[in-house]
Amino acid sequence: MAFNIRAFAENSARVRFDDVNYDAFVEQPLSSDALRTLRYMSDVESHTICYLRDLLVTPSHKDPEITAFLTHWAYEEFWHGEALDKVLRMHGIPADYGHIRNVRLAQGPRDRISPINQAVMANVIGEDFVAVHMSWGAINEWSAHSAYARMVEREDHPELAKLLRRVQAQESRHLAFYASQAKERLARSVRAQKLTRWAMRNFWGPVGSTIEPRHETSFVLDYLLGGPKGGVHVERIDAKMDELPGMANLHLVRNAFGRFGVGPGATSAPRIRLHALPDQVRLVGSRVQLEAGHAAGRAGQAAEAARQRAGAAAGSARQRAGQAADTARQAAGQAAEVARGAAEARDELPAGATG
Ligand SMILES: [Fe+2]
Ligand SMILES: [Fe+2]
Repeated sequence: MAFNIRAFAENSARVRFDDVNYDAFVEQPLSSDALRTLRYMSDVESHTICYLRDLLVTPSHKDPEITAFLTHWAYEEFWHGEALDKVLRMHGIPADYGHIRNVRLAQGPRDRISPINQAVMANVIGEDFVAVHMSWGAINEWSAHSAYARMVEREDHPELAKLLRRVQAQESRHLAFYASQAKERLARSVRAQKLTRWAMRNFWGPVGSTIEPRHETSFVLDYLLGGPKGGVHVERIDAKMDELPGMANLHLVRNAFGRFGVGPGATSAPRIRLHALPDQVRLVGSRVQLEAGHAAGRAGQAAEAARQRAGAAAGSARQRAGQAADTARQAAGQAAEVARGAAEARDELPAGATG
């Protein structure tokens, strides 16, 4: 059945995340691997507007059904990023516009020339470029759908599952649009098939791999789609791609993951660097800071109690010393009195009476 773009536009909405019980993440925090993966996923979701920039300079912008889709696609992906960021913030990880800005600034010169390259290449190719765009979108959305499914499986967390299943439902609509468009466009043009096959085989890479460091992509692919359970998804996505006209036996996901050292196509272990992960360092740092804050608070309370005890002890010591001094003064006064009385008595005695 053809994708109903009007129904999609009318039903497009930001993913609901206001009713998630975020306190559950305090009681049951996500694993550090899951947080590192969510960071990556959020970066990709938040980068959608930049992908859109590069696509609007291609022949895709001439098709109003595609631009209607892209309008709502970008909107929904934006909210996916916001929803994931809120989960990250609940774990003390900075996840705000400052972070998104840093991700964009880190792209360097390639980011500046990317829309120019894309515009020249796509406009030289013409209408058949749209088939490449739609096939590319389809495999990315299938990947996103599998990634969220695996995240739900890996982290046994009801509130995370509630949120991610809603995100996943929107990814399902995205992949339905891309796949239906790709199928139609590839079916009517052998040139589009050849071009798409060539482009996918030579340029497609795992979602996020163009904007994230290589070790982060390796880590996330391994966490989500490595091992036997992940391998099922890898084969499933490749099988979906096989169904598109002219795309049989490409094994795109298997081969691309293999280049990152993940899955059955891997020729080496994934290059997963455990250092130089700013957010993880910040995460650990923020927890250390939190612990240090608690410790400082406890130390302050102890010091205050000690001060009060010392003050009280000093006060009572001062009081006792004052009392002792008074007693000594009185004793001295009495002694002087006695001495004076004795002297007077001695003076009154007859001479020679002493001794
Ligand atoms: Fe998304
Ligand atoms: Fe999507």
